[in-house]
Amino acid sequence: MTLPKRILILDGQTNQALACVRSLGRAGYTVLVASHRHWPLSGWSHYCRGCFLLAGQTVEAFASLRAWAYREGVHIVLPLTEKGCLLCNAERQEWEALGIIMGCGPTDMLLCAFDKAQTLQRAEACGITTPPTRFPKSLEECRAAAGEVGFPCVVKPRFSHAWNGSTFLADLGTTYVTNNEALDQAVVTRKQGDCWPLIQGFVEGQGKGVFALCDHGRAAVWFAHERLRDVRPSGSGSSLRRSIRLEPRLKEPAERLLSELQWHGPAMVEFRDDGVHPPYLIEVNGRLWGSLQLAVDAGTEFPRLWVAILTGKGVESATDYVAGVTSRWLWGDVKRFLYILKGPPAGYPGLYPTIWQGIRELLGPQPAGTRLEVWRSSDPWPAVGEWMEGIRELMASL
Ligand SMILES: Nc1ncnc2c1ncn2[C@@H]1O[C@H](COP(=O)(O)OP(=O)(O)O)[C@@H](O)[C@H]1O
Ligand SMILES: [Mg+2]
Repeated sequence: MTLPKRILILDGQTNQALACVRSLGRAGYTVLVASHRHWPLSGWSHYCRGCFLLAGQTVEAFASLRAWAYREGVHIVLPLTEKGCLLCNAERQEWEALGIIMGCGPTDMLLCAFDKAQTLQRAEACGITTPPTRFPKSLEECRAAAGEVGFPCVVKPRFSHAWNGSTFLADLGTTYVTNNEALDQAVVTRKQGDCWPLIQGFVEGQGKGVFALCDHGRAAVWFAHERLRDVRPSGSGSSLRRSIRLEPRLKEPAERLLSELQWHGPAMVEFRDDGVHPPYLIEVNGRLWGSLQLAVDAGTEFPRLWVAILTGKGVESATDYVAGVTSRWLWGDVKRFLYILKGPPAGYPGLYPTIWQGIRELLGPQPAGTRLEVWRSSDPWPAVGEWMEGIRELMASL
């Protein structure tokens, strides 16, 4: 039997794809990339041995991808976003019939994380602290929910990428409202099919991520970080973050939840921690995450370990990592600066950086030892490609 050596990384435009391509390429795998975008970030890496341009994010486009993957002798396919996972699972049997190992768990399991209502209800049922959350089923229930949790409150679509069986529904993202009029507008525009958005109380605290690689409900590998800067200062993925020791007060609820969900594969459990209350669960990202390179830089090679589980080798013991490693996504900081220039979104109740702070963050000194996420002198082209594509996108949006 040939060893599974050829790995197809999906969602090649993402930062996590680049981290996977580099981690697996360095480990000796032959890595191929697919994306629906021209010039995807990870396709610039010298480890990328072939690139497939998807005609779109549809089941049909994934069928063409599958035919290509088969011709290329791919052994494992790794979807890295919710869309990628759902589109792979839409025809999981067809992939597996070709002998290709699917690098994500089944849809029912994934939906426990992709559907924020399910995640929070399951978490509450097992005693995990969540922001006060309501799950309304009508406009009247939304208004009543806001009355209960109080203004300002958070309006959150149930799904980042709602899938109706044939296409993805728009996600306007989390927003903040301070009055009834804004509430009505926010919930109506964030309704996805029959699913009304969640209404949450706003909780203070620092964003912390607990990352795990699970083997059928048992977490075999752990990692944790704290967010130092978010791309969108009102809440989003991070542009600057630091690895931290995994304290029991973060690990314990994450472990309980992942075991409750019988999670299989990688997951990021996102908390907001004010250091006083037990950390509030915000959501579970049931896939490899944007800041994956930090975990790799700190010593936890999640991509390789996930491949080891997928190929039945298992992961012997929890690997240790270095706390205090700081990773900066420079292009993310540029985007952050543009958000700072725009000013806080209407209704945002938290502190928002000033333009002067933004300039200092962008051009001033960074925490000692900060590493750039994308730049590697041994593999320089992704950083060049990222800026070329980023500037092109910015110009196109003007
Ligand atoms: N209840 C809340 N209180 C305060 N901030 C929140 C709350 N819910 C979400 N946020 C902020 O908004 C960000 C995005 O929300 P999240 O639920 O993680 O959705 P997603 O990452 O899928 O867009 C979070 O990272 C956090 O910074
Ligand atoms: Mg989030």
